[in-house]
Amino acid sequence: MQQRLKIGVLYSRVRVEEKWIFSAMEKRGIDYDRLDDRAIHFDLDKPEQWQQYDAVLERSISYNSGLYALRLLNSFGVPTVNTATVAEICGDKLMTSAALARDGVPQPRNMAAFTPEAALEAIEAFGYPVVLKPVVGSWGRLLAKVNDRDAAEAVLEHKSTLGSVQHSVFYIQEYIKKPGRDIRAIVIGGKVLTAMYRKSEHWITNTARGGEGELCPITPEIEDLCLRATKSVGGGVLAVDLIEHPERGYLVNEINHTMEFHTMQPVSGIDIAGEIVDYVVNVAKEKVQK
Ligand SMILES: Nc1ncnc2c1ncn2[C@@H]1O[C@H](COP(=O)(O)OP(=O)(O)O)[C@@H](O)[C@H]1O
Ligand SMILES: [Mg+2]
Repeated sequence: MQQRLKIGVLYSRVRVEEKWIFSAMEKRGIDYDRLDDRAIHFDLDKPEQWQQYDAVLERSISYNSGLYALRLLNSFGVPTVNTATVAEICGDKLMTSAALARDGVPQPRNMAAFTPEAALEAIEAFGYPVVLKPVVGSWGRLLAKVNDRDAAEAVLEHKSTLGSVQHSVFYIQEYIKKPGRDIRAIVIGGKVLTAMYRKSEHWITNTARGGEGELCPITPEIEDLCLRATKSVGGGVLAVDLIEHPERGYLVNEINHTMEFHTMQPVSGIDIAGEIVDYVVNVAKEKVQK
């Protein structure tokens, strides 16, 4: 007799994406538990409480909570979407850039330094404008476009005096003069599902910051780049952000491992939540078959 699968969904808040995911689970008649990361605790002497799950889908809003939950689950032998290793790389922009650089995937020029003095020296040597970003962050928060030395000194001092420990790593990126938009593509299990332009008058084009979504055709070039990028960080359920450089073409800006798709799903007409659930079920089946 075939064993009935049991799935866990780890989440922080039921956003529209989680609503769609839960309803996709229910539509498929899947036995699943909703695991609120603000309420659960892990008893390390009782891994069997977690080993009942054939797979866990992580949708935490807090990067840290999600990452540690994935690490614990993976160390108990519970398969997760995404894996802790993928979350570790994608949740940290510097680690993502390092993976892409290792594999020769086109991306903006990046530099890293550990003191404001060393960061200023790197910026001065590279030239302006540059973009400073927290290594961990989303929704376009705390991004700074730095146009001159005065601004660089100010931002670096603010980061080192007021910032948390994450701001003590200075991640410096070339500013790309892109055409008022970037591209967000959803890649699930080695398949590029759909892509969307995010248009904005502001250089930060996140939909969380008012960027507007419009369908973007998946050209062979976009497809190839997205597949190379997702492979480089370990694969799974991912969203790849591309920036169009006027001369160098498409560059990979970042890869998200717990993406929102509230705009993408209606714009594309693709049931992204359903595709995610199908992918998680396959991961669970692979575990059961082992
Ligand atoms: N180096 C850059 N040059 C030009 N625009 C950028 C650059 N980096 C980021 N952006 C813009 O800012 C947005 C947010 O940057 P991103 O690195 O994706 O941070 P977040 O994780 O907060 O989404 C991007 O979608 C893009 O529109
Ligand atoms: Mg982004």
